Order: sequence, then C-alpha cells, then structure tokens
Amino acid sequence: MQSNESMSISQIIERDHKVYLNAFGQRTPLCIERGEGCCLYDSEGHAYLDLIGGIAVNVLGHGHPGLTEAICHQAAQLIHCSNYYYQMPQLRLAERLSDYAKPLFSGQGGLVFFGNSGAEANEAAIKLARAYFHKQGQPRPRIVSARQSFHGRTLATAAVTGQPRYSDPFAPLPSGIVHVPFNDIAALQAAVDTTTCAVVLELIQGESGVHPATAAYAQAAEAVCRETGARLIIDEIQTGMGRTGAFFASERYQLTPDIVTLAKGLGGGVPIGAVIASPDSAAGFTPGDHGSTFGGNPLACAAANAVLDAYEAEQLVARAGQLGQAVTTRLQQLAQKQPLIQEIRGAGLMIGIEFSAEIAPALRMNLISHGYLTGAVGTSTLRLLPPLTISREELDRFVDQLAASLEEISTEEESK
Ligand SMILES: Cc1ncc(COP(=O)(O)O)c(C=O)c1O
Repeated sequence: MQSNESMSISQIIERDHKVYLNAFGQRTPLCIERGEGCCLYDSEGHAYLDLIGGIAVNVLGHGHPGLTEAICHQAAQLIHCSNYYYQMPQLRLAERLSDYAKPLFSGQGGLVFFGNSGAEANEAAIKLARAYFHKQGQPRPRIVSARQSFHGRTLATAAVTGQPRYSDPFAPLPSGIVHVPFNDIAALQAAVDTTTCAVVLELIQGESGVHPATAAYAQAAEAVCRETGARLIIDEIQTGMGRTGAFFASERYQLTPDIVTLAKGLGGGVPIGAVIASPDSAAGFTPGDHGSTFGGNPLACAAANAVLDAYEAEQLVARAGQLGQAVTTRLQQLAQKQPLIQEIRGAGLMIGIEFSAEIAPALRMNLISHGYLTGAVGTSTLRLLPPLTISREELDRFVDQLAASLEEISTEEESK
C-alpha cells in the first residue's frame, strides 16, 4: 500500500472512487493532512487559510493546545462507558450548557440530552416535542418549518428541511410536516394552530446561503407558539457556539425558545450534539423514551468542556462579534468598489457574500489556488465560517485576496 506522501492527488482520487460511497457531493481535489492554528496543509505541502472551519466545526482552529491536551488526557483515562453510568465530563458539560441557556429560558437552567451530530440533536428535539403532547394525552401531528431551511439528513430532519432535494428520494417521509416561506409572518401565523406540536427554525439559514430571519419574524414565531402552545425549536447548530457574537443567536433576537439544538462547534471537531430544553418542555421525555450509545460519551464531553474553557479564557464569543463586524465593514467597503459584490449577509463570523453573477464556484477555486478555503453555496454565494480564533490580520489578508481574485475573475469573464 502506497502512503499518500508518494501519491499524487489524482492517484488518491482514483483510489478513493473505488471504495468511498460518495453520497455527499463533489469533493475538492485536495487531500488534507494536518492543521495548525487557522491553516490547513495538504498532501503536497500547500498551506491554506481556513475560512470555512470544517463547516463551522473547527471553532478553535486546528491543533488548539487546550483541546488537544484534554482529548489526550481523557482518552488515557476513559473514552467510553455507555449511558448506563454517570460520568463527570458529561455532568460538567450538561451543567455548563444548562447555565449558558439560562438567558433563553427566563433565567432557568435547561435540561440537556447529548447525541453525536446536528441531525441527531434535531431528531431528538422533534421527538421531544411530539412526546411532550403525547404525554399530555393530546398528540399533535403537525410540525411547521421554513422553506430553504436545513435541519439534517435523517428521515425526520430531512423531511423538516425545507429543500425537497434532501428528502424527495427517500419518500415516504414522516408525515405532518408543513413548510412555509421564510420571513413571511402571515404565512407562519396561518400555518400554526393547536394541532401544531412544533415550529422549527434557524435564525440565520446557513446551508441555503446565510439568510437572516428578521427580528419581527422571530418574535412572531415566538408569539404564535405562545398562543397555540406549540413548542418553539430553534436550530442553533450553525448559529450557536458564539458564532454570531452571542453564545446563542436566540439571545441576539431576545427570544425565549422552548428547545434549542447545538452541534458543529460544540466539540471543536469531536462529534457531539446537544438538545437543551426548558424544564417544562423537558418533561416530554421520561426514562426509556430516547437514547444513544455514543451520545455524550466521556471523550466527546471532555472535548466540549475544553472548547468551553477556551471560549471563557479567550473570550471567543465577544471576539466573534468584534471580528465579524470588522471583516463585514471591510467587505462592505470592497463592495462599494467591486460591482460583482451585491450583498453581505450574516452576523459575527457567519458571513454570506452574494454576487451579481454566477461566479461563486469559480471564485472558490480561484481562492483555493491562492491558499484560501471558503464555501460556495449554489452559484452566487460565498460562505465564510472561520474558526473563532482567527486573527484580524488573517481576515484582512483574505479580504485583500478576495479583491484580487474578483479582479482576476472579471478580467477572465471580459476576455471570454
Ligand atoms: C442548521 C443546521 N442544522 C442541522 C445540521 C445537520 O448537522 P449534521 O450534519 O451534524 O447532522 C446542519 C448541518 O449543516 C445545519 O447547518
């Protein structure tokens, strides 16, 4: 077997195609070997500044000493023991997340269930909302979510996701799910009634291109849930963990949800997801209702505790807000001079750059050739979800390169 050091990227791709069931989508022809700080290095020794952070996962960048040490220490102590038993890393993490969620639940701590991914966290949240009404002897069949939303790829979360391409091939889907246009208050109000068990929303739709909810829409969602008793589930899988400049984006909207979900950055790259429910909503689950073999195991919880330690020591939530503001200002200045930039959207370090032409995939590849990793959503949006540890200087370097790449692309377009 050849090691990848002596293999070209095309040889790696050829081998991969024979054995890897690629259901995810077209992959970039780079084989990533290691990371350090906010840089990734490929098998050919090229360095890349990472502005997509494993899709909002690598909140501490790569090789963060505190996270690495905590994982190594916990691996030597105890990796897994099942949820038959109590263990301190899980207890500590649940206590901390319960505290972080106090501003969302009128000062009360939340109750926390752990899974291994975002989809599992949302799946558990949906089951919790269904069980909440079932336990009251009044099951509610309907779930309302927004068009263009993304909530995961299990059957239930794909069905709740408001993009048919993620669910159509897998029909029949769980029933009772209604999709309404995002940011349309009247449509939401018309869809939610006393047969609705939950309204599921992202406050900034991430996967569909960084589209923020208006404050009025978020408030209307909460109000209609209070009127009808429906549970308000806020999917904070992408917006949570401080990315928008508040630990939960719900805080920015001054929302009081019933259930929130977290994953992505929570373990800094170690898979873990969490459902945090208000004490009232948490009553929907009683022992035996739900579970996970791996969910909240000592290794994942130790990693998440180390992430929170770094957040607290390095004040990363405030930093995300400040850096987000600074880079957005620079992007807006660039937009004044560069007609290809149509709009800058998002909050904190969750940023979407909308172009007036379908250049996003080509621009992404151009940026890669200059050593910058970003994400393209569709054909006209570039997405940035960098580590919260990224420096101002690194962000400035990226904006300079973006300006140069846009020049290159417009020159290429003109010469066609
Ligand atoms: C808002 C949101 N919810 C849920 C998910 C699903 O998370 P996972 O891929 O960890 O299952 C994602 C993933 O991109 C997401 O952005």
